[in-house]
Amino acid sequence: MKVGVIGSGGRENAICHSLKKSTKIDKIFCFPGNAGTASIAENIEFDLSDFENFKKFILKNQIDLIVVGPEKPLVDGIVDYLEKFDIKVFGPNKISSQLEGSKIFTKKICEKFNIPTAKFGIFENKKEAKKFLQNSNFPIVIKADNLASGKGVYICNNFEESNIAIDEIFNGKFGKANNLLIEEFLEGEEMSYFIISDGKTIKNFGTAQDHKRVLEGDKGKNTGGMGAYSPSRLISNELEEKIINKIIEPTLKGLNEINTSFKGFLYAGLMIVNNEPYLIEYNVRMGDPECQTILPKLKTDLIDILIACCEEKLDDINIQWLDKKSLCVVLCSKGYPDKFLKNIEIRNLNQIKISDTNFLFHAGTVKKNNEVYAVGGRVLNFVSISDNFADSKKEILDNIERLNWSGGFYRKDIGYKVIK
Ligand code: AMP
Ligand code: GLY
Repeated sequence: MKVGVIGSGGRENAICHSLKKSTKIDKIFCFPGNAGTASIAENIEFDLSDFENFKKFILKNQIDLIVVGPEKPLVDGIVDYLEKFDIKVFGPNKISSQLEGSKIFTKKICEKFNIPTAKFGIFENKKEAKKFLQNSNFPIVIKADNLASGKGVYICNNFEESNIAIDEIFNGKFGKANNLLIEEFLEGEEMSYFIISDGKTIKNFGTAQDHKRVLEGDKGKNTGGMGAYSPSRLISNELEEKIINKIIEPTLKGLNEINTSFKGFLYAGLMIVNNEPYLIEYNVRMGDPECQTILPKLKTDLIDILIACCEEKLDDINIQWLDKKSLCVVLCSKGYPDKFLKNIEIRNLNQIKISDTNFLFHAGTVKKNNEVYAVGGRVLNFVSISDNFADSKKEILDNIERLNWSGGFYRKDIGYKVIK
């Protein structure tokens, strides 16, 4: 079988790595991939907004399945387009992708089905929004409606900060804004909860805690994710039941009512307040770095799961996991998430210990003349699985020291709440 994976991050390197283990796969293409995928797949540069050209490439190369890693092509409708040509593609359609593409779309489903989420208001202009804030309590959360690569969320501590947020959003910092969301600030602990669905059946696809802030102690600016661990320390059967019954099932029902269904990975970003789950946001894909953290624990052949989803046969699959603790630390380029250095060579990659339990997944890297260069903010993901988080972390820190890359920095405290 030939498989094509869309994306260039650590998530996609982890997906390619899992697929590569299958005896059923002869070849993997990655669009465009990175220096990590280059050693397991054929990396191809492609303008993915040109669906027609992409379809031609798939048909010409007889690719049996396309797996979409990031949200942008999903929100742009790549699944709907390819399926018109009978191409198998794993990921949700354009309408379902609005769960991530439009925060207001999701809030409206929450409202209709009583899904626990932060109280909110939708505002169509600066004046209305600022007037509302004059009588509000702080902190308060202000969000751009559209996709903003995780940057369209402002936690505002006072009226002045909220004014800046409103101006930036309506002045088009995240694309044309017809409205924005003002939301109650929820105080609790965040958790990433994943399911996989074929549109009829849903199955759990792991839990994780993501460390989104750039500085140790979960301080500083928000990033794409500086590290994660799985399973989440918060999950229990009781909490999972609440998440499924109060959040996931009603959302899928909401999609059914608009004559569609969800196929793919669904990632619920939750705030757990006094053991009650509140939906903060949906993502219609795996998380990054959660995917790198979760996939190494998967025992079942990933390709069987993905194909079963495309054929609406997920019910027939028993997804099995290793009972291990997985931790991931992200090595970033100095300066990230602000301006960071690019095209810095990474030497010593051959010093890193790779095994059945220690993994290296590339993110913002490229290979040029057999040398590897950092080109993105998040550069390498070090993952280790073991019987406890402390051992996993020790293995990772040892590997990062072996690399000894002067261009990078990382958080040394990933998993601090589960490691004494
Ligand atoms: P999002 O892009 O929606 O995941 O938001 C980015 C981050 O902002 C989340 O991971 C939370 O840490 C925080 N956040 C978003 N909404 C809220 C909220 N209503 N209350 C508290 N924190 C929030
Ligand atoms: N780790 C956060 C995300 O993937 O959106």
